[in-house]
Amino acid sequence: MRLVLVGPPGAGKGTQAQYIASNLSVPKISTGDIFRANVSGGTELGKLAKTYMDRGDLVPDEVTIAMVRDRLSEDDAQDGFLLDGFPRNVAQAEILREMLKDWGQALDLVLELVVDDDEVVRRLAGRRTCSQCGRIWHVDFDDKKDDKCDACGGALFQRDDDKEETVRHRLEVYQEQTAPLISYYAGEDILVGVDATGPVEEVTERAMEAIRPFL
Ligand code: AP5
Ligand code: ZN
Repeated sequence: MRLVLVGPPGAGKGTQAQYIASNLSVPKISTGDIFRANVSGGTELGKLAKTYMDRGDLVPDEVTIAMVRDRLSEDDAQDGFLLDGFPRNVAQAEILREMLKDWGQALDLVLELVVDDDEVVRRLAGRRTCSQCGRIWHVDFDDKKDDKCDACGGALFQRDDDKEETVRHRLEVYQEQTAPLISYYAGEDILVGVDATGPVEEVTERAMEAIRPFL
């Protein structure tokens, strides 16, 4: 299955991606995670991406697309993948379609996680990520009293772009540049929307139900 997860910052793409990818036995490919790994590794790509990420702006298309092309060319992505955070605008979507077509592939489904702005701000303000295994937590919803990952014991950190004013800007960028993807994919008849509010497990169940007819 070749699947794209789309939705505003904080909709739960990363959270759901870890469960859905494992249910479907496909690799989870998150452009945000790859950029953040490059930032912490101090690579040239990381230095460039950081200037955009800290402002809440999109990293330029040519950089992002080259990175995704490399990742999708790897062996483990040949039979399917879950893309989290890519494509992020119509230009990226068009290039993805061409890229897959050249390889005799096409997307099977685009899953939209639907959640409102207030919930997004609430979720991102309390988000913590494990520096060791990458698992995503929430201080309130997961009742985190310490800064340790329950899965692996690693130290939790708060993302630099989760400050409230940066979150507001990321939401504007989403409305202007990413939301047009919804009608783009609706026109291709591969878009399904899922209510992303409520407990994480319920959202996963709704997502899997939406995916099943496309398997
Ligand atoms: P990216 O990492 O993709 O960030 P994003 O799209 O803003 O999404 P988030 O990771 O913030 O949210 P999420 O939907 O994954 O939510 P999560 O599961 O963590 O991108 C970061 C930056 O990289 C961009 O701004 C850009 O600069 C650059 N970039 C990335 N891709 C790019 C591209 N294609 N082109 C150009 N630039 C690109 O959940 C959030 C919180 O809510 C967590 O604490 C979680 O525990 C909690 N939560 C989740 N679900 C629930 C629930 N059901 N109930 C209660 N709490 C929940
Ligand atoms: Zn961990």
